[in-house]
Amino acid sequence: MKRRKILVTSALPYANGDIHLGHMLEAIQTDIWVRLQKLRGHDCVYVCADDAHGTAIMLSAEQLGISSEQLIDAASIEHQRDYADFLIQFDNYHSTHSEENRELSESIYEKLNANCHIHRRKIKQLYDPEKNLFLADRYIVGTCPKCKTENQYGDNCEACGSTYSPTELTDSRSVISGATPVEKESEHFFFALPAFTDMLKIWTRSGTLHDAVANKLSEWLDDELQEWDISRDAPYFGFEIPGEPDKYFYVWVDAPIGYMASFKVLCDRSDYHFDDYWCPGHDTELYHFIGKDIINFHTLFWPAMLTSAGYRTPTAVFVHGFLTVDGTKMSKSRGTFINARTYLEHLNPEYLRYYLAAKLSSGIDDLDLNLDDFVQRVNSDLVGKVVNIASRCAGFIAKGFDGMLSKRLDDEKLIAEMLASKTEITELFERREYSKAIRLIMEQADKANQYINAKQPWIIAKADKHSRELQEICSTGLNTFRLLISYLKPVLPVMVEKAEHFLAIDPLQWDDIEKPLLNHKINKFTPLLTRVEIDKVQAMVDATRQEYETQQGNSAAKPAANSSGLEPEIELDDFAKIDLRVARIIDAEIVEGADKLLKLSLDLGLDPQGEALTRTVFSGIKSAYEPETLVGMYTVVVANLKPRKMKFGLSEGMILAAGPGGKDIWLLEPHSGAEAGMRIT
Ligand code: 2FM
Ligand code: ZN
Repeated sequence: MKRRKILVTSALPYANGDIHLGHMLEAIQTDIWVRLQKLRGHDCVYVCADDAHGTAIMLSAEQLGISSEQLIDAASIEHQRDYADFLIQFDNYHSTHSEENRELSESIYEKLNANCHIHRRKIKQLYDPEKNLFLADRYIVGTCPKCKTENQYGDNCEACGSTYSPTELTDSRSVISGATPVEKESEHFFFALPAFTDMLKIWTRSGTLHDAVANKLSEWLDDELQEWDISRDAPYFGFEIPGEPDKYFYVWVDAPIGYMASFKVLCDRSDYHFDDYWCPGHDTELYHFIGKDIINFHTLFWPAMLTSAGYRTPTAVFVHGFLTVDGTKMSKSRGTFINARTYLEHLNPEYLRYYLAAKLSSGIDDLDLNLDDFVQRVNSDLVGKVVNIASRCAGFIAKGFDGMLSKRLDDEKLIAEMLASKTEITELFERREYSKAIRLIMEQADKANQYINAKQPWIIAKADKHSRELQEICSTGLNTFRLLISYLKPVLPVMVEKAEHFLAIDPLQWDDIEKPLLNHKINKFTPLLTRVEIDKVQAMVDATRQEYETQQGNSAAKPAANSSGLEPEIELDDFAKIDLRVARIIDAEIVEGADKLLKLSLDLGLDPQGEALTRTVFSGIKSAYEPETLVGMYTVVVANLKPRKMKFGLSEGMILAAGPGGKDIWLLEPHSGAEAGMRIT
């Protein structure tokens, strides 16, 4: 067999968000494919990174009162932990905010520029005069020019569906500051995408893409391609364009280059050679796994940029659909926008790996995680069919034969049949038709269970627990189990590792299953996988909903809600729900890593049981107060606000303050006669 040299990537997650099950769908799809290649003995490496640049990240950091670097460093740790706990095996995980990526991005840009594929021209854009920032469409809201619905984003109306330019909105304002945007001109850099139309027409039809994707691209390619705006003005968190002060690469320029940078880091610490995988003329393969929302970046801009810069183009781009939960788009309020970490707090990652594998295909249709079906499917297939075979046979081998398998099989034909399906299973995994592969594997599991049912080893054991027939039947059963776990190994690495230990065998490879396991001593059987409990699934959904509600209740900087700049009206009843109390500040300290926050300990007097009532609150008043001056002061606190998990700890309320910010923030201080715990009425 020729040993293929393969480089695989999955899309780089943004650093300003948690990894959720949508990301996991892609990572699991990729990881299964990579593990398959590795098991087959191919030289396959899998790299990824955090996508760390862009306005959104800059603004998130600002809101949290930390630097962008601090935000992306913290995200990177969490992201890597989430992926690792879902058994995603990267050969390297990097960041687009890295020296390797800066060097590659600059050098690619310089090649594009030298080839006259970078054009400059002035464009007009809306600008936030308070924040001194150009506003992308999603940072502008206003009234739809067609149907007059308020609060619509800068490029399209959710109410009537019309599209427009943000300058057409009436009473538009900046989502960031609430200011009225003004038009401002600046010079932008454009990549000459139209020059690659012919090349792309050929490339997209040369087996690189699924037909459904190529067809979608034809719609763009048959129209005239537009030049691609690759620059952003300062302030921007990203790489400055060489020789162009205050001009930055748009995040989507250095994001895919991040694939190269991550691989470069791997090369620097191993025997892999960068050029073998990225320069033309080498016998290596390059694959990107992505979601259908980012097709144009990977199949138009990216191959065109690579070509201009003298690099190879991807062997193929594998596109998947979105993950839906219980038939609809993942929704925070319904509790179905599930973070990877929340899932892991309740459920075993291999359940999800299996369920998604059982439903994945090579197409771009959305995939539904139906939670009832999830429980049913995992329990019936993995526990009921696969693990069951081992548990049914193991006891007899342990009790009657001291763990020794027989010298021959009771049913060689069954094993031969199950082995015969291997070629097709391999082929299906290779083509990313995982659901078909899993169906075929489960058909084999059914055959194995039918065999055991027919042979009824428990009846034989009643008569003679040392009978040779019993040993040969159970050994056949355990050999079917060995084949099944071998086929499932790319999907269920941990369960299979436990099974390998039970069978007392070396780690299975794809091609070492032809010879049956005979005259071999196995270990005691221990449960390999427990059933999914519906209660845990429900707990995960509840926890997700709770996270959302906590976030909603505390979201600090919402866009101004209506044309007067006020939040929507509330009823007196709503206001009456707010429990305002006088609190004495008993301690105030600086929060390591936060520019704006102070950590306050508050004394709220006594609760009805006479116990001291205290609260820890993180408050953005550092610019106005030295912590020590606050101690002993009285303030007003919202005492019944749902606690909010923040980056630095749990915030259990909110204190009231007024003022424009900076040095001018005044605490609402109750004066003479105030005592902690007093209600404000
Ligand atoms: O859509 C996204 O989540 C992007 N962060 C994906 C980037 S993939 C690659 F091009 F870097
Ligand atoms: Zn409208």
